[in-house]
Amino acid sequence: MRDEITVLSGNANRALAESICRQLGIALCRCNVDRFPDGEIDVKVSDDLRGRDVFIVQPTSPPVNDHLLELLLMIDTCRRASADRITAVIPVFGYARKDRKDEGRVPISAKLVANMICVAGTDRVLTIDLHAAQIQGFFDIPVDHLYAKPVLIQHFRDIKVDRPVIVAPDMGGLKRARAWAESLEAEVAIVDKRRIDPTKVDWEHIIGEVSGRDALIIDDMIATGGSVAQAVRIAREHGAQRVFVGATHAVFCGNAIEKLTECRPDGVVVTDTIRPPPGPLPEVFHYRSVAPLLSRAIAAIHRRESVSALFEDGRKRS
Ligand code: R5P
Repeated sequence: MRDEITVLSGNANRALAESICRQLGIALCRCNVDRFPDGEIDVKVSDDLRGRDVFIVQPTSPPVNDHLLELLLMIDTCRRASADRITAVIPVFGYARKDRKDEGRVPISAKLVANMICVAGTDRVLTIDLHAAQIQGFFDIPVDHLYAKPVLIQHFRDIKVDRPVIVAPDMGGLKRARAWAESLEAEVAIVDKRRIDPTKVDWEHIIGEVSGRDALIIDDMIATGGSVAQAVRIAREHGAQRVFVGATHAVFCGNAIEKLTECRPDGVVVTDTIRPPPGPLPEVFHYRSVAPLLSRAIAAIHRRESVSALFEDGRKRS
């Protein structure tokens, strides 16, 4: 393999790919991902890929189908151009919610998508905060699973939160909340959330003490914003001093930003795994970049060094 890293980007988050390249001190590979008049995707890479260690940066964020197919076609392009090794850098892995057959006659979408990425010709996957960590096992190739926790925690350290309590917006977020609590030497609370259908949830109460403390509501993603907006209201009703939200993947579907702004959090911090929406956001919203984390991981993979050594604490990483 030639001793050079080549980074390609589709259309999902070119700004993140450029930022990774700046950190690595290299130029982004020249690659156009366009559309034919009928909407089919057309990929053309202008730089030589033969023998290269290629990293394709493409979150499968909304519109997920377009971004996924761009990724698959880019992998195929690199494979046919004799790249030596292809790593799919998928900062957010779409279709992750359906990771098991929890009722009859439904797909396991995450498994099918993992199969498609492998079959296209990927050698490795690099991703951040999978919706469920076990999705790693859906790939029969190495997966480096990073956690944005150190990036988000640094934000809360910088703004000096006071007597923080980490709030999981649902039972599924408890493990993540515990890991955060350990890093911040904080306690944990849980919002008792019950999902009625994909767009509707019902809440009852909060388990744990938030009164007089800074509540940090932590989630892997903000989609419609319903889960965290309601958690903000409940934490405030239970006497929290200030209420902050931290999430890795800012999907921000529909009116999520308005919904979040209306519940008046003291701050919302997310990462740039997904390209931020155009135009200015209300001032409570803050973006922290995962580019330094991804560029260090890419450099480590390229040098065949440990990726787990990148984390502040090797025990509880989520
Ligand atoms: C749930 O399992 C996830 O961790 C998130 O809480 C959820 O997907 C967020 O969705 P929404 O923003 O639509 O409430």
